[in-house]
Amino acid sequence: MSSKEIISMISKPTLYDVEKIRSDFPILQTKVHGKPLVYLDNAATSQKPITVITKAQEYYSSMNSNIHRGVHALSQVATEAYEMARIKIKNFINSLGKNEIIFTSGTTESINLVAQTYCRANIKEGDEVIISEMEHHSNIVPWQMICDEKNAKLKIIPINDEGEIIFEEFERIITHRTKFISVVYVSNSLGTINPVKQIIKLAHQNNIPVLLDAAQAVNHIPIDVQELDCDFLAFSGHKIYGPTGIGVLYGKINLLDSMPPYQGGGDMISKVTFEKTTFNELPYKFEAGTPNIAGVIGLGEAIDYVTNIGIDNIALHEKFLLDYATEVIADIPGLKIIGTAKEKVSVLSFVLDDIHPHDIGTFLDFEGVAIRTGHHCTQPVMDRYGIPATSRASFAMYNTKDEIDILIKGLKKIIEVFG
Ligand code: ALA
Repeated sequence: MSSKEIISMISKPTLYDVEKIRSDFPILQTKVHGKPLVYLDNAATSQKPITVITKAQEYYSSMNSNIHRGVHALSQVATEAYEMARIKIKNFINSLGKNEIIFTSGTTESINLVAQTYCRANIKEGDEVIISEMEHHSNIVPWQMICDEKNAKLKIIPINDEGEIIFEEFERIITHRTKFISVVYVSNSLGTINPVKQIIKLAHQNNIPVLLDAAQAVNHIPIDVQELDCDFLAFSGHKIYGPTGIGVLYGKINLLDSMPPYQGGGDMISKVTFEKTTFNELPYKFEAGTPNIAGVIGLGEAIDYVTNIGIDNIALHEKFLLDYATEVIADIPGLKIIGTAKEKVSVLSFVLDDIHPHDIGTFLDFEGVAIRTGHHCTQPVMDRYGIPATSRASFAMYNTKDEIDILIKGLKKIIEVFG
């Protein structure tokens, strides 16, 4: 019996009841063009469980007030809920203290914060910053901006045909001028899990701090910042079943302490006079202005939801989905998977003969199947493979084998229609 046949016989491969999980996500009951929604665009954003939706609503309906400012009861309840979320995140990524957790609007802002504070203060003319060829634009452009400003050089670690970092090239391009490294933990367009521990080890042997873009990692694999020993780590709430517009920057306390503030305004100050301002302690030094309070509280609830299911269980379920999808999709004539790294999360990018990905995406939409098509904000990855775009199906904890079968059926129909 082939492994494909064995896989297709397994009806309940997971450690959890996926149907029960699905019932926690109201949107999964939606119909699109009269067909049940098959949501396979989780790398763009994940759906939200009812607990997250109600928690954010609860903030507005029963606690709405500003935080860290009021002596009145509502402000205290809201402040407590906000700070409790910080502790949940600290525990989830195992940082040393809650002061190492900064709330931002998302991964993009977290990376820009580090570029504009740490790097603006520490990078000089002729220095070098290293990123990889598989970065999302949000982990390219902030470094281009700071390198342009400082007359520094941006160096790129190339990737191989499978979509893996070429480690020897990384070793080769590090020099005594390299002052910062920022790499993606998991590629959003290829699914590759990068060997970040090795990257960090080598960087630290050369006294270079490392930022990890964990936007596509945090929802798929366990993260322990102390074990990784990364200096900074960025992620977004909406990829891990939380609200949009909220994200996290983790930083080692000594680095955050040494950095100048990012934005000036309320909450980030200790004392202001027209002559001089002194700044607040961490983490507030980096949280200017009224933050996204509902977003933070909702994110805390999302972390609880994921913790209750167990990130290891989620990883196992998603591995099954990826293995199954990779195997059955290979039967589609003319289909080529882009991103075949040995270590991958549940992201499946592909091209199909010369049918344009936008046509594939539009056709599948009429079957109720939501995937993303385009360059996925990784144009250099598309250039690497000499293609303008891919179609990308990305799976989450609530997806099922049946949904993958619907995707495959849709792709077969496309071949019939487009010849
Ligand atoms: N970065 C997100 C994606 O990969 C939006 O689709």
